[in-house]
Amino acid sequence: MKSILIATKNKGKLHEYELLLSPYHYLVKSLFDFPELPEIEETEDSFEKNALLKAKSLYQITHLPVIADDSGLMVDALNGEPGVHSKRYSPEGTDEANNQLLVQNLKDKPNTTAKFVAVIAYYINEDEHYLFRGEAKGFIVLTPKGSNGFGYDPYFFDPVIQKTFAELTHEEKNLVSHRAKAFHQMIHFLEGYDETRRL
Ligand code: IMP
Repeated sequence: MKSILIATKNKGKLHEYELLLSPYHYLVKSLFDFPELPEIEETEDSFEKNALLKAKSLYQITHLPVIADDSGLMVDALNGEPGVHSKRYSPEGTDEANNQLLVQNLKDKPNTTAKFVAVIAYYINEDEHYLFRGEAKGFIVLTPKGSNGFGYDPYFFDPVIQKTFAELTHEEKNLVSHRAKAFHQMIHFLEGYDETRRL
């Protein structure tokens, strides 16, 4: 069985990837399996650059194929913020403090439309690495709902399903989320690309 490294220590995210990868019989590793690896700072100004930076850095150390993503919430009334700063939007950087700041910044705004964005970098080796982007559109509610998921999920309302992302099971979220969309693009690309590289 081939190994693949998911470049995350976020348990919510890891669980989503484990489910998404489950049909492909990969030995899924995460940063929890490599406690000695350094933290790769997301210093770039785009999701694409951050995802690639993380994937490349970890490939260079582990020589495993790496899936790294960078994701975040972009709110129209906040000019796309928190964007690449989603993880550390508030000084505390906890989900709770980030969400409080979001609600605070949106409380007088009539329009709270927003999207989640995920960019996945799949780094196979120096010559083969690819980027895939997925988006999920919705709006921010000022009262949280649901207890599943992580991050901004309780405040992100999907107008099609009529639920916040935190009201969805992992399986349901994986049908509509930004990360799932980017992931399925990756699978679609790889299936059409080369049998020997197939997941
Ligand atoms: P990163 O991609 O690990 O840098 O995470 C960026 C941040 O965006 C996370 O810490 C969350 O705050 C937020 N985020 C990304 N994806 C999701 C999601 O699916 N639900 C809720 N928040 C998310």
